[in-house]
Amino acid sequence: MTLKVGLIGCGGIMTPHIEGWKNASNRAEVVAVADISQEAMGKAAAQLGHPVQMYTDYRELLAQPEIDAVDIALPHHLHRQAIVDAAQAGKHLMSEKPLCLNLDEAADIARAVRASGVTMMAAHNQLFFPSVLQAKQMLMQGDLGQVYMIHSFDCSARRRPLSLNKATWGKSEPVFSDTWRSDPSKMGGGEYIDTGYHPTYRLLFLAGKQPSEVAAMMGTYRLPLQEEDSASVQVKFDDGVMGHVLTSWAFAAPGARPLLFSIAGEAGHLWGEMDKLYYQPVGFQTPAVVEFAGWNYARTFAAEIEHFVDAVVKGYEPLHSVDEATATLRVIMAAYAATDSQHAVRV
Ligand SMILES: NC(=O)c1ccc[n+]([C@@H]2O[C@H](COP(=O)([O-])OP(=O)(O)OC[C@H]3O[C@@H](n4cnc5c(N)ncnc54)[C@H](O)[C@@H]3O)[C@@H](O)[C@H]2O)c1
Repeated sequence: MTLKVGLIGCGGIMTPHIEGWKNASNRAEVVAVADISQEAMGKAAAQLGHPVQMYTDYRELLAQPEIDAVDIALPHHLHRQAIVDAAQAGKHLMSEKPLCLNLDEAADIARAVRASGVTMMAAHNQLFFPSVLQAKQMLMQGDLGQVYMIHSFDCSARRRPLSLNKATWGKSEPVFSDTWRSDPSKMGGGEYIDTGYHPTYRLLFLAGKQPSEVAAMMGTYRLPLQEEDSASVQVKFDDGVMGHVLTSWAFAAPGARPLLFSIAGEAGHLWGEMDKLYYQPVGFQTPAVVEFAGWNYARTFAAEIEHFVDAVVKGYEPLHSVDEATATLRVIMAAYAATDSQHAVRV
């Protein structure tokens, strides 16, 4: 069976998604795209390299009976409605992070997905780094013994080239001027609900337990945003494990190479990058290293799309669906509340 797929929202992140769909072309075919921008649809069609139906109203795409599944990559404030519409149209769906803007919207999504019985995958692409998957397996096997602390990072120092205008050079230019990202009512917050969503679902995945308490501090250090550009969030789990998310658009994570996570346990220490996993048992001076040559962000999109196609075709629940996406959003909402109240919040 070849899955017939429609793409909804053909902006920046749809570019690596399309490479993922092309990679899965033996099992899935993109037959339609939807976007309010003709230009964006034209670019998507050119990248796909074959003719597709184009719709400026995504509801027309959802009305096409031949379409089995949709891939949604819209601005955050449109996620709830698009997911509910897709589920009610009986389409299997994967949707970009964050799930939506708040927990009331998440409850609407859960109801619609359950009522329709479609497969819904939260597009949590960073689960598919092999270092994350192998670390999870090692934790489940008990290789670290009792786990004490998990750090999860997604930090980058965003820099623009120096302006050649002497009066303005060195100054950060508006990164998201006049886009939905510069409007907190459309974003749902600042950096934390956007990029910070990734290290949060990674932390929950690795911990594998229910969060019980969240404390947070946020700041705006470098980017001219109304909301935070950086967040430090502590999560206590119900088995006592401590979790920490550090995420930023202003500064890089500690260490020379971008670090995804670091886990300390009774028997040693495990840490991961995009293409490497390090394991250092207590008493050893150097870590054992597993290399995943060639792994980068782009490959995680291809892997998540393979996983989605498998889930739909074989009829199983994807690794992360509405429940895990809601749990991630619950921590994020608690972190915003904790920042505002300057107190830890129970979840
Ligand atoms: N997984 C990741 O690493 C990652 C990275 C970047 C973005 N994202 C997520 O992907 C989503 C999209 O982000 P982006 O950076 O591609 O944004 P973008 O602004 O580049 O693209 C959004 C697209 O949606 C279209 N659009 C807006 N309103 C529409 C409507 N009513 N109907 C149809 N199309 C509409 C726009 O014309 C645009 O082409 C967001 O949820 C974002 O958080 C994920």
